[in-house]
Amino acid sequence: MPKIVLVSGSIRRESANTAVIATIRRLIEQRDEQYEITELSLRDFPFFDEDLESAGGTPELLAAHAEVASADALIISSPAYNGYPSGVLKNALDWLSRPAGADRSPLEGLPAAVVSASPGQAGGENVQPHVRQILTNCGAKVIDSEQVAVGNALELRTPEGVITEPAVVSALAGLVDAVTGHIGAAVPQEAAA
Ligand SMILES: Cc1cc2nc3c(=O)[nH]c(=O)nc-3n(C[C@H](O)[C@H](O)[C@H](O)COP(=O)(O)O)c2cc1C
Repeated sequence: MPKIVLVSGSIRRESANTAVIATIRRLIEQRDEQYEITELSLRDFPFFDEDLESAGGTPELLAAHAEVASADALIISSPAYNGYPSGVLKNALDWLSRPAGADRSPLEGLPAAVVSASPGQAGGENVQPHVRQILTNCGAKVIDSEQVAVGNALELRTPEGVITEPAVVSALAGLVDAVTGHIGAAVPQEAAA
């Protein structure tokens, strides 16, 4: 079963980006095809430290690496902090850019899509080129899809922690289509037959 790893770039409880990720999870679960879905917690990534890396990392880090290594695609929802991704997101991507005992980074060659959310009208769209650039620098294959930036996201977040506003759900469904389409396109001919 194809596997999609989801990451919210915010660790706070009532995060708009976590609501976007929860909405994306629902959309994937509602599809006819079945996907394994894993959400990474950025709390599992200590401050990047080459000493800790040399000492073998932590069990949580190794588990996160294994999740990403076995994924067919990655979807990140990023907040904008002064126009750039959160420190916790950049930190996690730095860890994931390393092999962690394998022969290469789990991000290398991994299809990845980016969305952003913020309480502002622009939805933090200016952060997205930076996240895509980091992913590209880490060897991921950024999926070419229409940009989705969820504005007024805290107002749109329901008490259940999802977003139900139809235009946003439809835009996120388009992103999910692009990701699942990419996974489908990546299936070798003999496996698809
Ligand atoms: C240090 C800091 C810088 C911020 N910079 C931006 C920004 O550049 N653009 C923006 O749209 N929102 C900015 N915000 C507002 C965040 O988008 C807002 O806190 C958002 O809710 C964070 O995402 P979350 O809800 O997923 O935690 C900033 C917030 C903080 C704390």
